[in-house]
Amino acid sequence: MGLPALDAFPRKLWARLVAREARQLPLSGMAYPDPAGWQALRQAIAAYLAIARGIACAPRQIFVTAGYQGALGLIARTLMRSGDAVWFEDPGYHMARDALTTIGAQLVPVPVDSDGMRVSDGEALAPRARFAFVTPSHQSPLGVALSLPRRLALLAWAATAGAWVVEDDYDGEFHYAGRPLPALKSLDRDDVVLYAGSFSKVLFPALRLGYLVVPECLVERFEAACQTFHAGNSRLEQAVVAQFMVEGHFARHLKRMRSLYAARRAALAEALTASFGDRLQIELQAGGMHLLARPTSMVSDRELVQLAEAYGTAPAPLSAHMLTGDCGPGLLLSFTNIPEVRAAAASCLGNLGEGDPKGAADEFETAVQLKPKWADAHYGLGAAWYDLGDLALALKELRTAARLDPRNVGAHRLLARVYVQQNDPRSAEGELRLALQSKPSAEIHFEMGLILGQLANLEGAAAEFRNALRLNPRFAPAHSLLGVTLRRQGDHAGALLHFRKAVAIDPLRVRGIMLHQLVVQQVSDGRAAQRGAGMAAVRLLYRIHGEQPQCVN
Ligand SMILES: Cc1ncc(COP(=O)(O)O)c(C=O)c1O
Repeated sequence: MGLPALDAFPRKLWARLVAREARQLPLSGMAYPDPAGWQALRQAIAAYLAIARGIACAPRQIFVTAGYQGALGLIARTLMRSGDAVWFEDPGYHMARDALTTIGAQLVPVPVDSDGMRVSDGEALAPRARFAFVTPSHQSPLGVALSLPRRLALLAWAATAGAWVVEDDYDGEFHYAGRPLPALKSLDRDDVVLYAGSFSKVLFPALRLGYLVVPECLVERFEAACQTFHAGNSRLEQAVVAQFMVEGHFARHLKRMRSLYAARRAALAEALTASFGDRLQIELQAGGMHLLARPTSMVSDRELVQLAEAYGTAPAPLSAHMLTGDCGPGLLLSFTNIPEVRAAAASCLGNLGEGDPKGAADEFETAVQLKPKWADAHYGLGAAWYDLGDLALALKELRTAARLDPRNVGAHRLLARVYVQQNDPRSAEGELRLALQSKPSAEIHFEMGLILGQLANLEGAAAEFRNALRLNPRFAPAHSLLGVTLRRQGDHAGALLHFRKAVAIDPLRVRGIMLHQLVVQQVSDGRAAQRGAGMAAVRLLYRIHGEQPQCVN
């Protein structure tokens, strides 16, 4: 269950690819497509599966289908006979359950616990079943992963019983703790696993695209079945997906969605805990696109769902996924598309966007659209615009942040920087005063000292550098700049004292500045004999540290 975050889909990029592929579509591309799938897409999927899911297969083993539902239909028409016994997870994916029942399969409900399907129960219930349908990466709907011993036991049983295992890897890409688990298929030494993947979760479900990887020994049977029964899929959309994968957009999109979902999942869990406390127990599994919340009182989950629907949310009842067993009431909550959660998550993501100011700006933009009165989100957006060099937009957002929350120190400090860049030190001074009123710190006093120095208020600047040093006596740049200010005031002895302190604390960074100051001082004192030596030292230091002097007046 769970729609992907449709608002976060790169629609502009997608539209560009669609337009390009449509323009380049040859006449032959307008005829009937290969029902087994567009070759470039099969190749792209094979390459992706090798890297991302540990599956080694040739493109000819891959059959492009209309999602998992299409894969089920293809398997049913190619391999199944009415009355075949099929192990099915209990609880399990209700669409597959209904489809298989309609086809005439005899479902054998196999209980699921915290290690996934209980394989030994399956063996006891129906040792000669012809199929086992499993969701090993992220069991649907409980969210647990099939443990390694059970994976091995399942494969061993299938090889001995001559059964096929159908692996539904519908959202295995989304794993939030560590790397995604490799697919069950990657352990399949006896070629008993048919692996089904879907683009419904990783791109969007309206595409109706998925794929089935079949063992080499079944390729010809599936090819024949495709020719007879399988209508094929739109060539244009397959080509677009192939390009999306080959050009690296797919991997980037997945990476971005993984972070987004991790943030949205945490935000939803936090919101539920804050609202319901211990009346709701949240089972956060390592992967997936939904979480399971269990009411601690004995109420029916269907009633709870009706109640939730009246409030505009749409959880699914866990009980709807049961076959025969009873795994208690539970609500399945998709965390990918909830507006309030989205705002928080977007903001989290924006904060993660260090080094990617454009990405951070997009996320904060989403957050402020959803929560326009959220000062921190405006501040984040302002900071991102500042990093992107758009001072006008930065100013607008930072002003909003400071208006909504006058105690937002970060917004005042950044506003001061913007004003400095706009040659407006008076406004910068005003912002830093507001920041100091909210939360004085050595850094802000230091910044104030710089601005007062710029305004030629040397006394004020010296006082601010001293304030900074009062709060942090080992603040080397404050010593250094206090030295500069004292020198400008004619207090050479005081300047030397602070330069020395700065060098003692942080010799590498400040020595260049200090020596430079001394050279300037010596020149102005007329001690030309030492000038040459001083200049040589400065050049050497600049060369060593690759630095330019920070103040050379
Ligand atoms: C367990 C499970 N498998 C597969 C799918 C994907 O189905 P399809 O590819 O037909 O959209 C879903 C979608 O919700 C699902 O929940």
